[in-house]
Amino acid sequence: MLGLFKSKDKIDLSIILSQHLNEPDCFLGIFSTTTIIYLPTSMKIGIAADHGGFELKEKLKLQIEKLGFEVTDFGAEAYEANDDYPDFAIPLAKAVGAKKIERGIVLCGSGVGACFTVNKVKGVRAALLTETYSAHQGVEHDDMNIICIGGRVVGDQLAWEIVQAFLQANYSGEERHERRLKKVKELEKEQ
Ligand code: RB5
Repeated sequence: MLGLFKSKDKIDLSIILSQHLNEPDCFLGIFSTTTIIYLPTSMKIGIAADHGGFELKEKLKLQIEKLGFEVTDFGAEAYEANDDYPDFAIPLAKAVGAKKIERGIVLCGSGVGACFTVNKVKGVRAALLTETYSAHQGVEHDDMNIICIGGRVVGDQLAWEIVQAFLQANYSGEERHERRLKKVKELEKEQ
């Protein structure tokens, strides 16, 4: 199970914790006074960035790992002012397309180049994000599997909130969303 516990009142942490404490494969965290995030830490996460997103990638990777996730880093391994975003975005996108990685985070200066690059890989559904609503709604409705962030555009804290919203969201699988995604997948087959 993956999800959010929401309550109009303050959550009784002891009840939630007692229900899930014996599950080794989950992270429970307090998101706000009324919401707890509950994530399966077995979810495979990948991250990649060129020089434009390198610094933010390093910070986000540490923060995600602190939640208990294993993060596969597709590079860059070090800051290199002249490196090229496709060299890191493509391997991550291929891993997501092959379902070896369930959720990907890709960064460059604006997020633009990284975003159109990963969207060329079959099975990838990526979007460039600057706010949190689309980070969860894109998963819930569109089964988005990669988010793209501009390291020169989005501040550290907002980027972290975008990542958390993305990781804690689930695809709803509702009929209307399945119907729409089927049309997208048919287009993909024509390419
Ligand atoms: C690199 O300087 C920059 O052009 C690249 O990171 C990115 O913004 C492309 O979309």
